[in-house]
Amino acid sequence: MADVVSIPIVKKKLAGYVGFHNLPNQVHRKSVKKGFQFTLMVVGESGLGKSTLVNTLFNTSLYPNKENKEPTHESPKTVEIQTISADIEENGVKLKLTVIDTPGFGDFVNNEESWRPILENIEARYDAYLEQENRVNRKRIVDTRVHACLYFIAPTGHSLKPLDIEFMKQLAGRVNLIPVIAKSDTLTEDEIKAFKARILEDIAYNKIQIYQPPMYDNDDPETVQENKDIISRIPFAIVGSDKEVDVGGKKVRGRKYPWGVIEVDNEDHCDFVKLRQMLVRTHMEELKEYTNEVLYESYRISKLARGGYEVSSDGSALNPLSKFEEEKLAHEQKMAKMEAEMKAVFQQKVAEKEAKLKQSEEELYARHREMKEQLEKQRLELEEKKRRLESGRPGTPEKGKKNKGLFK
Ligand code: GTP
Repeated sequence: MADVVSIPIVKKKLAGYVGFHNLPNQVHRKSVKKGFQFTLMVVGESGLGKSTLVNTLFNTSLYPNKENKEPTHESPKTVEIQTISADIEENGVKLKLTVIDTPGFGDFVNNEESWRPILENIEARYDAYLEQENRVNRKRIVDTRVHACLYFIAPTGHSLKPLDIEFMKQLAGRVNLIPVIAKSDTLTEDEIKAFKARILEDIAYNKIQIYQPPMYDNDDPETVQENKDIISRIPFAIVGSDKEVDVGGKKVRGRKYPWGVIEVDNEDHCDFVKLRQMLVRTHMEELKEYTNEVLYESYRISKLARGGYEVSSDGSALNPLSKFEEEKLAHEQKMAKMEAEMKAVFQQKVAEKEAKLKQSEEELYARHREMKEQLEKQRLELEEKKRRLESGRPGTPEKGKKNKGLFK
């Protein structure tokens, strides 16, 4: 590889107005025109409030008629993958939202492999993207990759279950994992605090990588504080409700209990606001970027390495050329073998034809000889007849005998 020549960068002051400060606006206009797209996966045992939370997050009935549904105890046969897509718009900004639900997860007697179809689905989406990237025409790449996965932890108040740990371990390097404590209104404040601490301990002990908003050096203090606040709430203790209840004459989204109301949009009541802030308001693009630049990239490198491509030691530079050379050599060898085989077949066919021709030539020659012999025999017979006839001419026959031989 050619050496990278480092060019010294000199800071310059402008003598007057140029106008490139407008670049962010250009990007903004273009993005708004193009629209945005986001794919969210929700995983958790049935009845933990996944669909209610999605409806609450996007303030729309993405899953219709689910809010009043009682928790179901029916177990499907396998973990299914269901996709719901919706085009939503807010102040002229369009978002194509895709939600991937995984009904059946954790609902079996044996849930050991429950994570597998989900991981396979995530990887199949990376494969589809990779396949599009490798096409000659890459103009219309459709991105169906999962940008975030909300993992619903049952509000047991104890610690993570083996299924939770296994799922998160298996999926961690492949998707932005965001653990949430489902239906946290069923736990007291102290229970939530202790439960969160145990979950984080389990996550650290099992070296599970969950998504955390990144901190950048040039972040302003306000952003740094915002991110710190979000991180301090992980795993988010959430409450979902797309029904409005009355609080002092004011309609709010929440859940009503004999002792009071849990307000979904009240930061003192649950972590819903912080989750929505991270997922929708401040880090949606970050999640997409991390998916593309880190998670997908690592999948792509391991996939190509498995396929025989060379991967450099830092994992960044791929060398598909060596694989191409290998394939070219194999192809050439195959062609040479085919050519040799065709030559051998041709030569065999020529030899067979020659033998056949020789045989028919010999047969012709034999027939010719036979005919010649027959003709010679006939000629001799005729000669003999002629001689006999001539010897029996009138005047020449013996006296007193009639010449009968002439009219035989
Ligand atoms: P499946 O579709 O079966 O996988 O269920 P799900 O996880 O999508 O749960 P769903 O949103 O359908 O909610 C199941 C039940 O729990 C419904 O009766 C909801 O009203 C209720 N529910 C949803 N979210 C909450 C919550 O935060 N707290 C409480 N207490 N109940 C909730």
